[in-house]
Amino acid sequence: MRADVIHNPKDIMNINKAEILRNICYTELVYSRINKKLNTKFSKRQIEELILKILKETEEKFFSKIGKNFYIINTKNNIKITINSNTFRIITADKIEKRRRFLKPNMTINLTKLKPHHFPLFYKWWNDDEIRKLTSEKDGPIEPKEVDKILEAHLKNPGKHDFIITADKKPIGHILIQKKPRKKHFEIYIAIGEKKFWGQGIGAISMKKAIKWFFKKFPLENILQLEVLTTNEHAISCYKNVGFKTIKTIHRKTFSDTYLMEFYRAISL
Ligand SMILES: CC(C)(COP(=O)(O)OP(=O)(O)OC[C@H]1O[C@@H](n2cnc3c(N)ncnc32)[C@H](O)[C@@H]1OP(=O)(O)O)[C@@H](O)C(=O)NCCC(=O)NCCS
Repeated sequence: MRADVIHNPKDIMNINKAEILRNICYTELVYSRINKKLNTKFSKRQIEELILKILKETEEKFFSKIGKNFYIINTKNNIKITINSNTFRIITADKIEKRRRFLKPNMTINLTKLKPHHFPLFYKWWNDDEIRKLTSEKDGPIEPKEVDKILEAHLKNPGKHDFIITADKKPIGHILIQKKPRKKHFEIYIAIGEKKFWGQGIGAISMKKAIKWFFKKFPLENILQLEVLTTNEHAISCYKNVGFKTIKTIHRKTFSDTYLMEFYRAISL
């Protein structure tokens, strides 16, 4: 497995929104590209006004620099803007397909320690094609026996901390915090296995609870990491909302590109 840092992490941390706003520029071709992508018929001036408005109102934490581009994600307007970071040329604007549903009022989200009676839930969750593609390098179904074996090993391993996410006491997902051998930092992993609960803010709420637990349990740790496919915009939005920062892109020989993201103890939840 190969992991390359393709740019200086400091580039990402030090995004200068004011500089971007001052320098953005347009090519002749970009206007029709944006109209096509957004399914609009705006004039050049309307497009420039829209882009400026979105850039101005998007908080800097939703600006990231990956490779040679800046990406600005604005979930209020459902738009992602791509800008060349060397020339400040607007490259494109894309619609974000969002599933936004609202958390049922008074729904209680909790984390509870993984127990053997939870294992059968994973037979379904880990065999869901969509979830597997977003979370695992493995292809193909996984047998209940294998699931039991993996989770039993987790329970015996003091370096792995597994939680079940519950919504009004119903188990709906899984969070794992672990420190892999030879890794400097702990990492966190989340999957809401019951898909009807996606896009309601439950991912963000559960992550915050797990992060609070982690920094309390491990007072000497200051960083919590995660890896996410660069194409998993939904999860990336959730992690940015929680406060994670994008650190670098990881290229793998056998798996799609991922972003390494970090959460720092000093960030308020
Ligand atoms: C990733 C996951 C945990 C997020 O939990 P969630 O409860 O669905 O996420 P939240 O509702 O807290 O936040 C999602 C954010 O993404 C936005 N979003 C929703 N659908 C989106 C989409 N298709 N594209 C981009 N953004 C999207 C939401 O609007 C929200 O942002 P906002 O609050 O600024 O509007 C959950 O969707 C999941 O388990 N997915 C499958 C497994 C997975 O991908 N795990 C992560 C592996 S790294």
